[in-house]
Amino acid sequence: MVTDNRATYAGTMPDTAWSPDAWRSHPLAQSPDWPDPDHLARVERTLAAKPPLVFAGEARTLQAHLAEAAAGRAFLLQAGDCAESFHEAAADQIRDKLRVILQMAVVLTYGSGVPVVKVGRIAGQFAKPRTEPYEERDGVRLEAFRGHIVNSEEFTPEARRPDPERLLAAYHQSVATLNLLRAFTTGGFAALSRVHQWNQEFVAHSLEGKRYEVLADEIERALAFMRACGIDLHDDQALQGVEFFTSHEALILPYEQALTRRDSLTGDWYDCSAHQLWIGDRTRQLDGAHVAFLAGVANPLGLKVGPTMEPTELLRLCERLNPGNVAGRLTLISRMGVERLEERLAPLVAALAAEGRAEHWTCDPMHGNTFVTVAGQKTRRFDDVATETATFFRVLSELSTWPAGLHIELTGGDVTECLGGGSRLGEDDLTLNYTSICDPRLNATQSLDLAFHVAEYLRDYGASSGERSL
Ligand code: PEP
Ligand code: CO
Repeated sequence: MVTDNRATYAGTMPDTAWSPDAWRSHPLAQSPDWPDPDHLARVERTLAAKPPLVFAGEARTLQAHLAEAAAGRAFLLQAGDCAESFHEAAADQIRDKLRVILQMAVVLTYGSGVPVVKVGRIAGQFAKPRTEPYEERDGVRLEAFRGHIVNSEEFTPEARRPDPERLLAAYHQSVATLNLLRAFTTGGFAALSRVHQWNQEFVAHSLEGKRYEVLADEIERALAFMRACGIDLHDDQALQGVEFFTSHEALILPYEQALTRRDSLTGDWYDCSAHQLWIGDRTRQLDGAHVAFLAGVANPLGLKVGPTMEPTELLRLCERLNPGNVAGRLTLISRMGVERLEERLAPLVAALAAEGRAEHWTCDPMHGNTFVTVAGQKTRRFDDVATETATFFRVLSELSTWPAGLHIELTGGDVTECLGGGSRLGEDDLTLNYTSICDPRLNATQSLDLAFHVAEYLRDYGASSGERSL
């Protein structure tokens, strides 16, 4: 799936007294109320003896690609579930998620002319931060649903009881998911010659699906032309498969610590539960446990940046998480909401640029745009998602900063969770096929629709900035 670039790499982490359990002496936000700490400790020991999910060298390769995105020579597409589910792990569901990400990547690559770095919110994205730690219904108060790695969504005391065995179940599901992803991405399914087959039937009938067919035809013609010129396409790795990386929010630190290993080559610590780990908007306290943990691992990191973030706070976080100011180490993920993006983002981008910071900016146009309908459904409007993305591109362009990526929640299925877009869903349609256990996701048609929008923004950006300034 991915190769190591170890020849060019030496350990880069500062030599500090950091250890994988250093977070335990810091305030821990968003932690479940584990009823049996001994049980949790037993599970942590079991997990610590398991094989890693990813290798340090793969994480380094991703960081090298992200450094290209930071330099304006690549674009990051980070996409997948809000929360993976223990009930949605069939091969078809994983394949369909990958399929829509591949489709989006093709549209973006073709539109922008720059390589697209593909990172899934997958094979570990099980934990959810909650605004309220408890949920109350008819006078009954239970622990909030925190994702399948902690508890279950049904409103009963048994289902909501945090259960450490779920950490093991999450590990095993991640292993199986990653195994399948590695097979799909290297075993022929992701070969560019199959570009037509990524268009699922229900997408193919939509306007976006037809637009995709036209593009796929053009790619096929180009491949045929290259074959006719005598170029052996079977030999070319880049055409026969894709590099695909995994990521999730590093929320449940006992799980993350248990999968953290010292790399024999560089001596650095890596959290081997995924290639990239990010810190959520609710756990980014400078002195908090999540920042203390991730500051010490050498994986590339993400940091959600919401509307309450102030420039000085962000600067301190960047210095703490990326003390060497290394390009590719820290992906900043703006998630402001369409209303506040312009006002909140511009001062942050300007403050970092003034300090010569190397971090790159990506856009999560989902998490600031969630609302509940009168009928009680959590949803997002496609138009808000597209507008926040367009505003992100404009604001960054005005500050001569490369818009380095897009971070979204999607699924490969024909779900009815977000309004509008390619599938033209209205509020009455939301109940038809709403299967997310947490936030509403774009379906495959809406995802493709967004990719065509972003391809245009990227083209416009290239046109307006001439030689890309950074
Ligand atoms: C998420 O990405 O699923 C999430 C909870 O995001 P945020 O931390 O930005 O709210
Ligand atoms: Co979410």
